[in-house]
Amino acid sequence: MSRVFSGVQPTGNLHLGNYLGAIKNFVRLQENHECIYCVVDLHAITAWQSPPELSQNTREVAAAYLAAGVDPKRSVIFNQSAVTVHAELAWIFNCVARLGWLNRMTQFKEKAGKNRENASVGLYIYPSLMAADILAYRATHVPVGEDQKQHLELTRDIAQKFNYDFGTDFFPIVQPLIFDSAARVMSLRDGRRKMSKSDPSDNSRINITDDPDTIVRKIRRAKTDPEPVPDGSGTLGTPSTRPEAFNLLEVYAALGDFSKSEIMSEFGGRPFSEFKARLAEVAVETLGPLGDEMRRLMGDPSEIDRVLIEGAARAEHIARPILGDIYDIVGFLKTGSSFSEN
Ligand code: AMP
Ligand code: TRP
Repeated sequence: MSRVFSGVQPTGNLHLGNYLGAIKNFVRLQENHECIYCVVDLHAITAWQSPPELSQNTREVAAAYLAAGVDPKRSVIFNQSAVTVHAELAWIFNCVARLGWLNRMTQFKEKAGKNRENASVGLYIYPSLMAADILAYRATHVPVGEDQKQHLELTRDIAQKFNYDFGTDFFPIVQPLIFDSAARVMSLRDGRRKMSKSDPSDNSRINITDDPDTIVRKIRRAKTDPEPVPDGSGTLGTPSTRPEAFNLLEVYAALGDFSKSEIMSEFGGRPFSEFKARLAEVAVETLGPLGDEMRRLMGDPSEIDRVLIEGAARAEHIARPILGDIYDIVGFLKTGSSFSEN
């Protein structure tokens, strides 16, 4: 049986990379999979979040899922802290994962920066909580952007070590679903850095809630070079020599579901200004309605809260018995009240 699980952190500034790299795929996958989509608020607090903003951002990610087309009747939408199995299983995985494994995590190194002594312990063990998110549902497939690949490899290592140590095949070995198109959307100001929620320059990203004028302006000002649009022949550069140019092609392809060769034969050799005008149109066509629907949903949080409450109950219903089986495997007595119905 296959089951899809993924999550997005409620840390504000949801952007085009989050949409194309993750959320857009969430919508497609629900056509033929059982899907569980989480707003990972426990992960968010590994770095400081102001409490009112955390609540607002949690609803905003849920609103983005809904506005993009995740159907709460078909898929489960909930926030992580509402289902305590995640934190409970994370503790067990903290005792399975090795320090050496976590020491290799590039996201920790990037986020902790130079002042590693001052990073939270939560930031360090972030990947074992992520493994718990996925394995609490025994999920088999995880759609994410490229940057999460290493964390999913760690999830596989944890599952394998648990299975080996306890002599079981209880946990599946998860498959990352990283799609070719727009798995790594780059900053509009620097084609060698990924588009990120935490970039201090708002002009580096297109936020899902940007209004049409802002989208058009940001695309017009996006960094390029004096060369025309690449035509695929290689004479007009490659992704490594012209990262900004190829990033914009990638974004256009993903937004409009075009192939890159189609785009290069249409725009190749033409000035970038022409291509940017067309890209801005497609971006506004896609993100405009998405942002409008998010604003409508955020105007009445009770609708979002209803979805999250119902989703949490459904998630709990799946994960609690799985945690019960894990307790049996580990040798914990299920004397606590959370197992009394099993
Ligand atoms: P985060 O904002 O870190 O919670 O990421 C949520 C999802 O968006 C994850 O699946 C990420 O891999 C994906 N994502 C974040 N930034 C980008 C980007 N620049 N390009 C493509 N996917 C991204
Ligand atoms: N670490 C992911 C990110 O920053 C978010 C996340 C948390 C996640 N738990 C997950 C993604 C489980 C997929 C599956 O993008």
